[in-house]
Amino acid sequence: MMTGLASPRANPWIGAIAPYTPGEAKLASGVQPIKLSANENPWGPSPVAIEVIRAHAHGVNRYPDGAATRLRQRLAFLHGLDPERIVVGTGSDEILQLLPLIYCAAGDSVVHVRHGFMVYPIAARRAGAEPLAAPDQDYVADVDAILATVRADTRLVYLANPNNPTGTMIARAEVARLHAGLRPDVLLVVDQAYAEYLDDPDPDGALELARHAPNVVVTRTFSKIYGLGGLRVGWGTGPAAVIEALNRVRTPFPTATVALAAAEAAIADQEWVARCREANRNERARLAAAIDALQDHGLRAVPSAANFVLMTCPEHGPLSATAIKAGLEANGILVRHLPSQGLPHALRISVGTHEDTSRLIACLNRLAA
Ligand SMILES: Cc1ncc(COP(=O)(O)O)c(C=O)c1O
Repeated sequence: MMTGLASPRANPWIGAIAPYTPGEAKLASGVQPIKLSANENPWGPSPVAIEVIRAHAHGVNRYPDGAATRLRQRLAFLHGLDPERIVVGTGSDEILQLLPLIYCAAGDSVVHVRHGFMVYPIAARRAGAEPLAAPDQDYVADVDAILATVRADTRLVYLANPNNPTGTMIARAEVARLHAGLRPDVLLVVDQAYAEYLDDPDPDGALELARHAPNVVVTRTFSKIYGLGGLRVGWGTGPAAVIEALNRVRTPFPTATVALAAAEAAIADQEWVARCREANRNERARLAAAIDALQDHGLRAVPSAANFVLMTCPEHGPLSATAIKAGLEANGILVRHLPSQGLPHALRISVGTHEDTSRLIACLNRLAA
């Protein structure tokens, strides 16, 4: 073996990345868990999409349409957008991750909220940029704090609305105020991964901003209400120049043929989406009420607009976040603990089916008894 030679060296900012940790999917016992740790759709995708997935098993020797032409046309029709100003990615994650690579130079900064989506600081650091966390107020994004965090070298601001892991949302007027308060050279990225859980097709007005403003991008996903997280399809829309830049740097074939076909079928079945929205609302309300019924024990449900609830817990004792997580796990239920995101005292619980929720509530009540 040769020694003393230089070895490949990663860029110094790569070492500062805390790798993304997905929600746990397995129990130590090997028993099939009730998985409430990754904000997935517990009812699954539209049955039509499942049929389409089966039908597309043949033909996978051919490359997919890298431009996702038909899916973009359908998305444009559904949302009243220009298909030329839509880009489809390997999940919305791909688009979220590419934007700082396009708009930041090493040493620039990117702003996100304190208790925000774990991908944003990763995406910033990947580009050599510094992620800056703006404080929130009782787990709700604070527009004034975000604007105060923006520096001269800030190139991009991420806002998930509804936000993960808090489930909270800011209103249309607040998003407009945030946009109005940013310099025009700062890109505002509104991540609407959970927007379909609300009745309004553009619940915070960000899609409308993305239609007209030169510095607003909206991302959406098929991983949440559409129930296709395993197929990795997401999309973004915004100014022509941003979409053009994304098309230059995205992977040539971001999504698989089967995934594209399933996504097309899923958006055609809005009846299924409406049923999932309604079921989510009902189960989320049950879950939140059951948590709030234990407020004398120190538990609280942060009001959520998404498909999960952040439950805050006492710092110590038998109902601390760690103790409840372990207690739920012993009963076959997986939830998410996010101490690395400043939430050692909270658990994020995805909304499950009626039966999942009943099991979870019964278990919580037993732990509190
Ligand atoms: C706020 C937010 N944005 C984006 C994503 C990523 O979605 P995708 O599966 O489309 O990459 C998630 C997934 O949990 C999320 O919570």
